[in-house]
Amino acid sequence: MKIIKTIEEMHKLKNELQMKNQSLGFVPTMGYLHDGHRKLIKEAKSLNEKVIVSIFVNPLQFNQSSDFDNYPSDVERDENILKDDGVDFLFYPSADEMYPGPLAIQMNVVRRTDSLCGVSRPGHFEGVVTVLTKLFNIIQPNDVYFGVKDAQQVAVVDALIEDFNFDINLYPVPTVRETDGLAMSSRNVNLEPKEREEAKYIYQALLYGQQYIQSHKWTRTDVIHEVKEFLNANITGDIDYIDCLSFPELNDEISENHDIIIAVAVYYKKARLIDNIILNHQ
Ligand code: PAJ
Repeated sequence: MKIIKTIEEMHKLKNELQMKNQSLGFVPTMGYLHDGHRKLIKEAKSLNEKVIVSIFVNPLQFNQSSDFDNYPSDVERDENILKDDGVDFLFYPSADEMYPGPLAIQMNVVRRTDSLCGVSRPGHFEGVVTVLTKLFNIIQPNDVYFGVKDAQQVAVVDALIEDFNFDINLYPVPTVRETDGLAMSSRNVNLEPKEREEAKYIYQALLYGQQYIQSHKWTRTDVIHEVKEFLNANITGDIDYIDCLSFPELNDEISENHDIIIAVAVYYKKARLIDNIILNHQ
């Protein structure tokens, strides 16, 4: 696996790949890789001739400095995982390489972010679209792979590609879970044992919400109420939000003609966990 640390090296590589006419699949990450990231890589490998992964803990998308400081990292371990998974290139830039000085132009996300993490993490999606715009321009992939675990991120990236005419196909990949149902996340290592034990109820609450929708005449308020009751009965973490919205538009005018997302965020002492379930309109 070739490790690329500068934008200049990346441009050279991109020219070489273009001359060979090889398709490039890109998996952006912040490292501390787990089986969720690996599923995206597997998907990319099945659809592209070459696969590139980036590891960059993007300071711009952390609205709390403690979350940035606690973000786990082990690049040596990550490199071994990527080699085992047959990844061709790792883009691993420094913060100075990505942000050599203050930006003169700022991006502002005005749709799909007035709910869920868009409300509880002000500035987060602005940071995400900024770094992705840079990465998409630097790497110029044919295809990009994103996890549905971060469903609002998928909705925002879908809009970014559409609005700014990136010639890139977006592939959403289903959430990979631990055996007890907890969505895999780099932040799970920051859970205390008792928190980790009860965190399985987050997914169970979503399944309960799904079952409620499938077996009742329901309103958005009913679903939120039911999922909230379930969570309050089973977890000690603080609920940040529970919502039931249309997907990917993420508004509260939901009808049976839409895909529907039920999404939850829970604060534990050192980790904030998010999860969701999407019910596809048949
Ligand atoms: P990170 O949290 O490292 O996640 C990288 C990718 O892995 C994202 O697309 C995320 O949705 C996906 N992912 C994480 N956990 C997953 C799981 N359990 N199952 C399936 N996919 C999962 O998301 C980011 O980094 C950053 O915001 C980034 C896009 C890299 C921009 O900085």
